[in-house]
Order: sequence, then structure tokens, then C-alpha cells
Amino acid sequence: MKLSSISFLSKLLILQYLSFQCLSTQDFHFFTFILQWPGSYCDSKLGCCYPKTGKPAADFTIYGLRPSFNINGTSPTNCDIQSVFNKSKISDLIEDLEINWPSLRCPRLNNIRIWSHEWMKHGTCSESKLSQHDYFQTALKLKKKLNLLQMLRDAGFEPNDQFYDIGNPLSIIEDATGLLPGMECNRDSAGNDQVLKVYMCVDISGSNFIQCPSLVDNCGAKVQFPKF
Ligand SMILES: *[C@@H]1O[C@H](CO)[C@@H](O)[C@H](O)[C@H]1NC(C)=O
Ligand SMILES: *[C@@H]1O[C@H](CO)[C@@H](O)[C@H](O)[C@H]1NC(C)=O
Repeated sequence: MKLSSISFLSKLLILQYLSFQCLSTQDFHFFTFILQWPGSYCDSKLGCCYPKTGKPAADFTIYGLRPSFNINGTSPTNCDIQSVFNKSKISDLIEDLEINWPSLRCPRLNNIRIWSHEWMKHGTCSESKLSQHDYFQTALKLKKKLNLLQMLRDAGFEPNDQFYDIGNPLSIIEDATGLLPGMECNRDSAGNDQVLKVYMCVDISGSNFIQCPSLVDNCGAKVQFPKF
């Protein structure tokens, strides 16, 4: 008698725990939008592999759009294993995604594999706000809206292998948007910090940039902006 009531109680607790998890994963607070500079990614020890469509344009590529929590800045993942990636739902976006959201990983992956991975891991956690189609369309729209490379170039931060004070790219973005971005650097084989990723935050509508509640920042005082 006693044993079965204990196991009933623990089942109840497990059920409550699971339903709490489901609710909390849907209940994200903002998006983290991440762009990557291919010149830095390809200049790391691991190197890069171009997609079968060839060398991408010298522009930032989309790295991710992640629903995130205010409290701890973490991102919920894999929120709906039933919601499979379906290429035909984004057929009108494929051409644009090939250009703006390619995979540069080695060994070379079909871009579809990357989009499917991103949808399953992150996109399913914002399903309450964005359909599969709208998730990818939102990322593409955000990239165009930010127009990051142009913004940096206009203010003299050029991908020309030169070194800059880290404050330079940060204040260019802050002056242009009113928002301080996060920035992640990688090290090239000579030990130089290079601008690898730029993090911006976006409200849950997916259309307005907002100040990130916490900022990624692992760059040294001098950063290189490599050619690509
Ligand atoms: C972060 O916050 C969310 C929402 O409250 C919570 O579900 C999640 O477990 C937290 N993660 C960590 C690592 O604290
Ligand atoms: C993929 O989406 C299309 C268009 O919405 C739909 O007709 C098709 O049944 C879906 N395929 C799968 C495997 O869900």
C-alpha cells in the first residue's frame, strides 16, 4: 500500500514537473539574434567548408535566432519534437536563406541540415509566436533591417585585416542603433582576436531590436576584422 502511494506521488510530481517545463519553454522573453563574420570563422584552426553553392558573399551570415529568457539569458531548446522541419513550408525563402544563412562547417553539410537543426533546437521554442515559415522569414528580415556590414563600413570599420580598438565596432553599432551589442571573438593561429559574432536582441514580436539584458563579451582590447 505504502509503496504504491509513494510511486503515485512521484508520478504526480514528475507530471507536474514536465508540464511546468512545457509551459516555461513557450514563455520566452526576447530573441537573441546572432550574426557571424565568415572571414573570422574561416580563419580559425578548424577552417571552413563552403556550401555547394560556392563561396558566400563577403557579408555577415545569420548564425541563429534564439528565443531567450530574461532571468538568466539562457535559451530553451528542443521544445517540440513533433514539429518537424519541412522544406516545403519555406520554399519561397530557400534562395534567400542559401545566401544569408549558409553553413560553413566542415565537413560540408547540406544547408537544409543546418536549418532543420536550428528549427528543431531553437525555432520550436518560439512556435507560440512564429510559424516555421515566419521564424526563418523573421531572421532574414532582421538581417536586412540591421544591415550590419554597411553600418560598420560607413563608420570606417572595414574587413581589411587591420586591428581596431574593441570600442570601435561596439560604439559604431551603439551610435547607429542606440543599443549596445554583444560581441564574440575567436583566435586565429597567431593568437589575434577576431570579430566572430555579433549579438543583438529583439522583442518577442520579432521585429524591433531591444537592449540585451546581458551581453556576451570575450574580446580583447584589440580586434582584427579579417578579409573574406
Ligand atoms: C532559466 O530561466 C528559465 C525561465 O524561468 C528556466 O525555465 C530555466 O530552467 C533557467 N535555466 C537556468 C540554467 O537557470
Ligand atoms: C510539408 O508541408 C506541406 C505544405 O504545408 C504539406 O503539404 C506536407 O504534408 C508537409 N509534409 C510533412 C511530412 O509534414
